[in-house]
Amino acid sequence: MKEQLEKLKEQIEMFEIKQSEHVEAFRLKFLTKKSELNDLFEQFKLVPADIKKEMGSKLNQVKQKAQQKWEESQSQFESIKSTKSSQTIDYSLGSEADFIGVRHPLSIIENEIIEIFKKLGFVYSEGPEIEDDWHNFSALNFPPNHPARDMQDTFFISENIALRTHTSSVQVRLMENQKPPIRAIMPGRVYRNEAISARANCFFHQIEGIYIDEKVSFADLKQTLFYFVQELFGQEIQVRFRPSYFPFTEPSAEMDISCLLCKGKGCNVCKYTGFLEILGCGMIDPNVLEASGIDSKKYSGFAFGMGIERIAMLKYEVKDLRTYFNNDTKFLSQFESQ
Ligand code: PHE
Repeated sequence: MKEQLEKLKEQIEMFEIKQSEHVEAFRLKFLTKKSELNDLFEQFKLVPADIKKEMGSKLNQVKQKAQQKWEESQSQFESIKSTKSSQTIDYSLGSEADFIGVRHPLSIIENEIIEIFKKLGFVYSEGPEIEDDWHNFSALNFPPNHPARDMQDTFFISENIALRTHTSSVQVRLMENQKPPIRAIMPGRVYRNEAISARANCFFHQIEGIYIDEKVSFADLKQTLFYFVQELFGQEIQVRFRPSYFPFTEPSAEMDISCLLCKGKGCNVCKYTGFLEILGCGMIDPNVLEASGIDSKKYSGFAFGMGIERIAMLKYEVKDLRTYFNNDTKFLSQFESQ
């Protein structure tokens, strides 16, 4: 038994553990119940009493040696494994950017327009989308049964309540609640009962504005709107005003800008006129001021209104209005968030 133990000790010492698989091979060879060492422990019971002590301690030494070698090699390979896996992570690499979305092109344009008017002292104002007849029509000089009501095909909810057809209704609410000077812009969604096509939708977005004070003139209106389009489209832009009709303004006009594509030379976007229509405007009719309790002898004012989709279509050269509303992320993700 002594010789066997010596041999075993030698084998344990000589066993080369070079790869992690060798650790397990070592354990199987020396440390399981089927191992030679275990057999020797079994035989130990039969060892004569006089050498039992000596053999016992030898056996234990060999077992300890095997156990120790196994444990050491195990922890050695563990640490190699963990340094290897930590090396595969490069902490200096930038993380993959999450797609956090972009602003809708209509919001981008709306914000740009608001910022321009803010510089001129206009404040932001909002109102309800479900309106009564008074704020959407009557207070704006649309008498009952007046043909001008047909200019805007209306979604009625009841006889007296409708989805607002323009944000001029917010102008009325402001005039009723504030004393001049009033200088405000009112963006918002408006509704008209129109067949949906590339050029029309049953709802769209507007920004309207009013300026009411003593001695506000048509010259103020022209200068304000000229400044606005120069800021939005660039200094070279040209404007022209054409006489028009709105029940709530007198005189009324429509403002055109020189075509953004052909710069006034004529192309199919401007239908070879060199100009594009972008907004309606005019001096607020004295009847409208009076209806909201503003003294029309003391105060005058101008108002204007434009469709945001139309401006966005011109600016981004989008031909189909519906593109703005079908939530196609491929289309929307082209717009850098601003
Ligand atoms: N409210 C008009 C529309 O929706 C636009 C407008 C506003 C025209 C103010 C003149 C003055 O068409």
